[in-house]
Amino acid sequence: MGGIIPAHVGIIMDGNGRWAQKRGLVRTQGHLEGLKTAKKIVKAASDLGIKYLTLYAFSTENWKRASDEVGFIMDLVKQYLRAEFDFSKKNKIRTRFAGDFQGLPSDIQKEISVSIRDTADFEGMQVVLAINYGGRDEIIRAFRKYAAETTDEINEKVFHKYLDNPDIPDPDLIIRSAGEYRTSNFLLWESAYSEFYISDKLWPDWEKGDLENAVADFQKRDRRYGGIK
Ligand code: FPP
Repeated sequence: MGGIIPAHVGIIMDGNGRWAQKRGLVRTQGHLEGLKTAKKIVKAASDLGIKYLTLYAFSTENWKRASDEVGFIMDLVKQYLRAEFDFSKKNKIRTRFAGDFQGLPSDIQKEISVSIRDTADFEGMQVVLAINYGGRDEIIRAFRKYAAETTDEINEKVFHKYLDNPDIPDPDLIIRSAGEYRTSNFLLWESAYSEFYISDKLWPDWEKGDLENAVADFQKRDRRYGGIK
């Protein structure tokens, strides 16, 4: 596809539960299908030339869900990281992380660390897994790091250095599936000037064409960053 490809795309992968419910299946079945979709979309995004893709896999609020659902999602994350190494190697996809790492179960921490280490030299797309991630939580953790490390006067540039991935540019485009018009605590600081694209389609039904539609819509936007043309 031609035109300007957004460098950084963030996705709120919503609607797994509803997808399962519609079919009389348990919610976890929807997450399993959601993981398959995530793999498809990672490949599609990499083929489109997107440089950074942030996937909102688990929020700091998702712990409120039933423990079997939480455990299932954590296992999916593990499965994804283990099974996708060959795919990552072939497509030079580098794993990154955003969120409260210390608050994750130790087996997941280990799996994420291994994937980050083993893909560190890959120079293709970077996939940021937002797990145990909350935008407010990220800002608070950044503030704690700032306060512990420096007495430099605080401003946006100084503060930015303490966010989870200061080297990654802010998202150009944030996509949300399943028709809800809210940010749900995703990339609060970084999304100040992101373009939002909301689709009614449930996440497990997403295909490459849906990502292309989102990018095509993004290409029509007039980004002014608060200025005038
Ligand atoms: C939101 O749907 C989805 C989640 C909370 C989990 C998303 C996780 C995955 C797709 C698997 C892990 C992914 C990777 C890339 C490792 P919902 O359950 O809120 O759906 P609902 O609003 O219809 O109930």
